[in-house]
Amino acid sequence: MNSSAQESRFGLQNHQLGRLQGVFRAGKVKPMWVRKRPDIGWRDLVVGMFRCAAAAAQDATRTQQELEKACSESHDVLVCLSVRSGFDLLLSALELPAGSEVLMSALTIWDMPRIVREHGLVPVPVDLDVRHMGPSPAALEGAITPAARAVVVAHLFGARAPMDPILQIARQHKLLVIEDCAQAFDGRYRGHPDSDVAMFSFGPIKTATALGGAILRIRDPALREEMRRRQATYPQQGVWTYFRRLLKYAVLKAVCWPPLFGAFVGACRATARDFDRLINGVARSFPGPDLLRQIRQRPSVPLLKLLQRRLRTYPSSRVAQRIAKGERLAELLADVVPRPGCEAVGPTYWVFPILSNEPERLLPLLRQAGFDATQGSSMCAIGPPADRPELFPAAAAETLAHIVYLPFYPDLPDRAIQRMAQVLRQQYNGQKHQDAPPEHAASHAEL
Ligand SMILES: Cc1ncc(COP(=O)(O)O)c(C=O)c1O
Repeated sequence: MNSSAQESRFGLQNHQLGRLQGVFRAGKVKPMWVRKRPDIGWRDLVVGMFRCAAAAAQDATRTQQELEKACSESHDVLVCLSVRSGFDLLLSALELPAGSEVLMSALTIWDMPRIVREHGLVPVPVDLDVRHMGPSPAALEGAITPAARAVVVAHLFGARAPMDPILQIARQHKLLVIEDCAQAFDGRYRGHPDSDVAMFSFGPIKTATALGGAILRIRDPALREEMRRRQATYPQQGVWTYFRRLLKYAVLKAVCWPPLFGAFVGACRATARDFDRLINGVARSFPGPDLLRQIRQRPSVPLLKLLQRRLRTYPSSRVAQRIAKGERLAELLADVVPRPGCEAVGPTYWVFPILSNEPERLLPLLRQAGFDATQGSSMCAIGPPADRPELFPAAAAETLAHIVYLPFYPDLPDRAIQRMAQVLRQQYNGQKHQDAPPEHAASHAEL
């Protein structure tokens, strides 16, 4: 074997190890603001780990009941392992005839339409109005057929789509209305009072995360009890699995410190590893092809306990701080950098997406300046049913192709926000003619 191809103890080839040492020796490591930080403190992580140790002595059903009671005086909620678990349970309990159509916000995470298909149902995309990133009422009306049974509205990026026009159309066509609030928890919104189901996620990158868990508010008591009955037949999430997740996010939280994250990025570059893919892969809650087996579990006792603690102690000032910073950044970028969903209801800036005509050029520039922006990887534009190509969601697909998520969280200092805005304004002003997507994005707002 050639010496340069020999592997070191760390699975690196010798020339990669040499480059890695070069990076650190030459002091080339530049601090970098990571794309997202888990919204959980060290104390919560440690408490979660202790809860794992004490889990055997506690009754899961009673713990879940206590949590549900604490969440809602009207006893209308069900706690699940994740929103995907709850959505899957909901579709099981509904027992819709095979081939029924579920109309869905065209932009969502991959697994949501996948779960619909797993139930023998047809996900039908409803294109978005990019001003609020909710389904366009005109597109919704155009997509309804006699086979339509439900509509799923995803509230994206930490803000909400206007529900009244959607509810009005749904009522006319007797559709079940499901609000996907996975990205929209703000401690106050419980879903529109007229919606049938509202689903909130506490997965690893969500607001007030418990590194898992979801709360579903289900209006129909019979449907809720049927979901509960089915959930009771599931195995319970392993305590060890949850403990490992707590440990993993403790490490990831430590790596979020800008000098350490900069070193991590430098090391990935020196060893020709794609850090964007690496991070996106590590952050997946249910990796691998066997999605249904992984989501069809009841939450473990330590997860339930940590979720209860998070809901009880999460300071509302944290969301308020994020909103204030988001408004500041939005102001600094106004009129120069286009944003999807800038007219959405109650923005909380869970993430801060912008649109770029050339994301592949913008991303390295931002990273060069110390900002780990990304195009993300878990969202998709749902494809139309094979016999209705006219339902291709052009606005959703176009938004997805041009989206760039800026690093953004309450701990991002003002000086970093100002610097990031400065870099972006310079870039967009310098490229006014090539890099100006607001017109094309807006032209697809209504199909
Ligand atoms: C729009 C949307 N729907 C559903 C989910 C799934 O949530 P969970 O991770 O709790 O299954 C997510 C997660 O990111 C999401 O963003």
